[in-house]
Amino acid sequence: MATIDELYARKSCRAFTEEPLTDREKEMILQASLQAPTAGNMALYEMIEIRDPKIKSLLAKRCDDQPFIAKAPFVVLYVASYQKWFDLCQGYGIAIPALGEADLILAIEDTMIAAQNAVVAAWSMGIGSCYIGDILENYEANRELFGLPQYAMPVSLVVFGRPTKAMTQRPKPARFELKDMVSVDTYAKRDFQTTEKMVAKVHPEVETFVRGLASRKLQAAFHQEMNRSVKKMLSVWLEGEKTK
Ligand SMILES: Cc1cc2nc3c(=O)[nH]c(=O)nc-3n(C[C@H](O)[C@H](O)[C@H](O)COP(=O)(O)O)c2cc1C
Repeated sequence: MATIDELYARKSCRAFTEEPLTDREKEMILQASLQAPTAGNMALYEMIEIRDPKIKSLLAKRCDDQPFIAKAPFVVLYVASYQKWFDLCQGYGIAIPALGEADLILAIEDTMIAAQNAVVAAWSMGIGSCYIGDILENYEANRELFGLPQYAMPVSLVVFGRPTKAMTQRPKPARFELKDMVSVDTYAKRDFQTTEKMVAKVHPEVETFVRGLASRKLQAAFHQEMNRSVKKMLSVWLEGEKTK
């Protein structure tokens, strides 16, 4: 299948067969991350393969109780990180200003691009995957668990495995129409009715859908925890250990 067709067909997979991935498959997936574009070719991230079943189970609970994380044969934590360059500057006595918000955003961009390369590479080999956004919660506990230094933020957890038959048959969730998502030369300002019409093409009962979204996500306890946790991550990166 051509890459473009694979990109269009890819969908998240949340149930895996028990067949493990081979070492070669894992290496190819991680190598695909490494080959992704990266700001200044600095690879502003680190990848932690989670092998210990106890840690997988802990993450399954800690990431808003998603048991399929524990059952995934290959689990990778993508950590946005400037630490290696910071340490080298320190070691060589090179004076640099404190790392700031832009460095942080660049590192997150690098990290997500690397993760997505892995997702696409895996799909091309018949291996499914799913991002776990809830890794943004419980920063302090995850920081301790993975021994994260100051300039290392655990921004993305990705689970991989061979899709079960049911997963293969599950239809891919519909997307918005391209013409509704692309504007030219300026940001698309939509009034309420236009936004409603746009969303209705994918979710005909727009209000019901938005109310569900609000209660499942924005009003849920995990959402509060996620924002609290990320605030703490940001303060450690931007202000240092004193905020520990
Ligand atoms: C940043 C991010 C975080 C996500 N977190 C979760 C998650 O915690 N649990 C989950 O089951 N799916 C998660 N997903 C998967 C999305 O729900 C999924 O991509 C979306 O519903 C579209 O479906 P598709 O990937 O099958 O096309 C996440 C996706 C992204 C990009």
